[in-house]
Amino acid sequence: MNLLVTGGAGFIGSHTCVLLLEAGHRVTVIDNLCNSAAIALARVQELAGKPLRFVEGDIRNPDALARAFAGGIDAVIHFAALKAVGESCEQPLRYFDNNIGGTIALMQAMEAHGVQRLVFSSSATVYGQPDRVPVKEDAPLRVTNPYGRTKLVMEQLIQDWCAARPEASAVLLRYFNPVGAHPSGRIGEDPRGEPNNLMPYIAQVAVGRREYLRIYGDDYPTPDGTGIRDYLHVMDLAEAHLKAVDYAAAHAGCEAFNLGTGRGYSVREMVAAFEAASGRAIPCWSVERRAGDVTELTADPAQANARLQWRATRGLEAMCADAWRWQQMNPEGFTHVS
Ligand code: NAD
Ligand code: WQD
Repeated sequence: MNLLVTGGAGFIGSHTCVLLLEAGHRVTVIDNLCNSAAIALARVQELAGKPLRFVEGDIRNPDALARAFAGGIDAVIHFAALKAVGESCEQPLRYFDNNIGGTIALMQAMEAHGVQRLVFSSSATVYGQPDRVPVKEDAPLRVTNPYGRTKLVMEQLIQDWCAARPEASAVLLRYFNPVGAHPSGRIGEDPRGEPNNLMPYIAQVAVGRREYLRIYGDDYPTPDGTGIRDYLHVMDLAEAHLKAVDYAAAHAGCEAFNLGTGRGYSVREMVAAFEAASGRAIPCWSVERRAGDVTELTADPAQANARLQWRATRGLEAMCADAWRWQQMNPEGFTHVS
């Protein structure tokens, strides 16, 4: 297929593009590089041994979108978004404009070019604090921050769009906690500034870029007192996008799928696993709970297992080993490389 990948230079997008190219799809990426580097796309092409087409531009810019859709597109995978929860609380309008405004502009361009298939990056954040875990797709959606609200609104607008077009198909992929890197160590997660998420923070401590990890709360009602999440390997997540593209081609309508392993790990378990993978000590300090954090969030991935025929196969050891390889080979991320 001819696929348009928005946000394809980012963490999850770059790993997905490698697999899409390897599977024989033709890939166009549109990305404004607001949270990524063009070199990631050079490495994607090197890993896949195939070229992709890159349109550097913003999805809110109709001219950039027109360039991206030129030549014909069969389906869109929509990663482009701002994703930092804390920042979204400080700059809600920027998040609504970029994420929701961007999605509206993208879908208008899809309509203008007769494109009816969409795979969308949603998030477990749409469940907020669920009543029970593991969480199923029909659990109540109740977001707790502006970032999460943008994901919920985007899901709803995609649903409404599908409802108005019987032939259209959309797959909403609710990712839990993506971690790890391509096993080559050539691409990986490269947050700008201080990482918000656990795994890149641990990796930066291990490589010596940061002194210690702050554990946000060790008084949760969990076995070791720290929060539990469903971490999944980014290569497993990338594979889910291949399945989702095929699923969208075969099924009309809009469906949501949880993407996780179904198994949770605590912060302390993550630290121990990373220490084992890296052979480095990770100094930790327990501090206050982080506002908005939930005790435990894990996926019930049964729908994705059954309907997408997708299952996460990589365990915690591979997640840590691959993240560490990437961090060691690229201690400053993509910044100081050519
Ligand atoms: P990322 O920041 O690495 O990638 C997003 C990419 O989109 C970046 O390359 C950025 O430059 C680009 N972008 C952002 N706004 C744009 C715009 N207006 N026009 C063009 N390009 C734009 O993030 P990621 O971790 O790869 O996340 C990808 C998607 O998955 C996002 O939608 C995110 O909300 C979602 N998601 C991520 C996680 C996670 O923990 N990483 C979890 C759940 C959902
Ligand atoms: C994981 C655990 C923290 C950092 C976020 C978004 C969510 C989704 C995935 C996009 C928690 C603890 C963390 C640190 C710590 N993103 N922690 N010290 O909060 O589950 O989810 O990313 O959609 O929307 O909210 O992930 O990696 O930030 O935290 O102790 O320095 O690690 O308290 O228990 P989270 P995370």
